[in-house]
Amino acid sequence: MTKSTNIAWHESEITKVNRQEAKGHKSAILWFTGLSGSGKSTVSVALETALHTKGIHTYRLDGDNVRHGLNKNLGFSQEDRTENIRRIGEVSKLMVDAGLFTLTAFISPYREDREQVRNLMEAGEFIEIYVKASLETCEQRDPKGLYKKARVGEIRDFTGIDAPYEEPNNPEIIIDTNQLSIEESVKVIASYLSEKDYI
Ligand code: PPS
Repeated sequence: MTKSTNIAWHESEITKVNRQEAKGHKSAILWFTGLSGSGKSTVSVALETALHTKGIHTYRLDGDNVRHGLNKNLGFSQEDRTENIRRIGEVSKLMVDAGLFTLTAFISPYREDREQVRNLMEAGEFIEIYVKASLETCEQRDPKGLYKKARVGEIRDFTGIDAPYEEPNNPEIIIDTNQLSIEESVKVIASYLSEKDYI
């Protein structure tokens, strides 16, 4: 890959704070992480609807969707997953700069990759949400039939089967989808945002 040289940063006249003030709320990444089938997409979709209904400016980035476009040249090796998360982190940072709540729903199985994204952001701008469900539950749900394929070797490097998932050590929020309904999960996250004065 050729690296860019002779490049300089150009500041805009309008800042992130100006954009947040125009919207009347802060901006941050709501980073959902968890196994395939844990409920990341479902909860993030419902949360986006709830926030949007309150007039909050949002955008949602989802693993399957982003892999159709921006990241369609990436697979599921450790190296590719790391690059996947790095790009999503950079895109999300731009969106936060634009004044949005960016909801990301990626397995993001490696702790270090998630920490890299946290480190890109200012304090409080990275809210890690661990969507927790046991492998057994996810495998029972198997909404796309992928666990079944992974078990018979039709898919390799499948998270939880023959590729690792590293649980967050200190997530801001844990959503246990074995216990909570979608509505309850949305309530937990929305309450966090209002208690911490994000919205
Ligand atoms: S990662 O690990 O964060 O880079 O993965 P992500 O971009 O979120 O993509 C996960 C979705 O891709 C499908 N899929 C796989 N997941 C895990 N492992 C393997 N090998 C794999 N192959 C395809 C699957 O639909 C994942 O979606 P979710 O929504 O998590 O079920």
